[in-house]
Amino acid sequence: MILSIESSCDDSAVAITEIATKKLLFHKKISQELEHSVYGGVVPELASRLHAEALPKILEECESYFSKLKAVAVTTTPGLSVTLVEGVTMAKAVSVALDIPVIGVNHLVGHIYSLFIEKEEQFPLTVLLVSGGHTQVMEVKSFTEIKTVAKSMDDSFGESFDKVAKMMNLGYPGGPVVENLAKNGNRKRYDFSVPLSRSPLIAFSYSGLKNAVRLAVEKATEADYVDIAASFEHIATVHIVQKLKKYFKNTPPKRFAIVGGASANLYLRKNIEELLQPYKAELLLSELKFCSDNAAMIGRASLEMYEKKLFSSLDELVVFPRSSI
Ligand code: KG4
Ligand code: ZN
Repeated sequence: MILSIESSCDDSAVAITEIATKKLLFHKKISQELEHSVYGGVVPELASRLHAEALPKILEECESYFSKLKAVAVTTTPGLSVTLVEGVTMAKAVSVALDIPVIGVNHLVGHIYSLFIEKEEQFPLTVLLVSGGHTQVMEVKSFTEIKTVAKSMDDSFGESFDKVAKMMNLGYPGGPVVENLAKNGNRKRYDFSVPLSRSPLIAFSYSGLKNAVRLAVEKATEADYVDIAASFEHIATVHIVQKLKKYFKNTPPKRFAIVGGASANLYLRKNIEELLQPYKAELLLSELKFCSDNAAMIGRASLEMYEKKLFSSLDELVVFPRSSI
């Protein structure tokens, strides 16, 4: 079995995955949403302290598995350095105490493997990753062959939901609340411009849309928020659909996946399903409980690394806030 740890942002999570069967034997996550909600976003130092409390508590619950562990896996990149280091420190302690190797996992690869929890992987695959930290399209041929073909030049899709929620005093994280509010709104009432719609670039940008929403919120009353949320969600989604359409012109999709916390967004899912129809491309989605950050996806990704013996020495196991992917 492999014990996996995730602490790249505001979720403390630990999982146990059986190597031979890929079965998820244990998974627990303690989210810090409530604690960060009053600040309208994640406060790194607070997140770090909360991980230091939560991770050892979850680890204690795994004690019965300790004698069967063959490795410990942990997210090392990308993320907040002060929170990544909490998971990495615990992984090193487990590695020394149980005399097992340690595996450093890229969080973005973890999100890709959230599609394959308790399943065989399916490659090649075109992946749209939409989370709080990333908006990017990747061509994935195998575990080690991942090429980013488009990414955000500024804010991410999920982050723009968080910021819009903050403008409307709706708390953190903004994705689920803004999506919920948008359901009953008029998506055409606010005519926000679609980012980069005239640009030939296949890239994403959310800072302009965010500012347009800010101006609308400043002039609005609370009764208008529902239409602002609906119009914002619509344009945020149209932007992704437009850029994917452009990308598909030269690279038609065969198998496509949406992963990351914001892949739980049903409006985005529906629009991408429609976009894929003419290509008859298969759409893969993670289970809703594995869209947002979790340790099950880190454990699943680490199985590939375990098989290839991609272990790190304790000195090599350091955190990198920015991903190389
Ligand atoms: O993958 P994740 O848990 O953390 C990162 O790796 O960043 O993603 C969290 C992000 C947050 O920005 C959150 O607001 C967004 O995903 N999110 C959503 C939805 N659910 C979560 N965004 C839009 N619609 C949603 N339903
Ligand atoms: Zn994530």
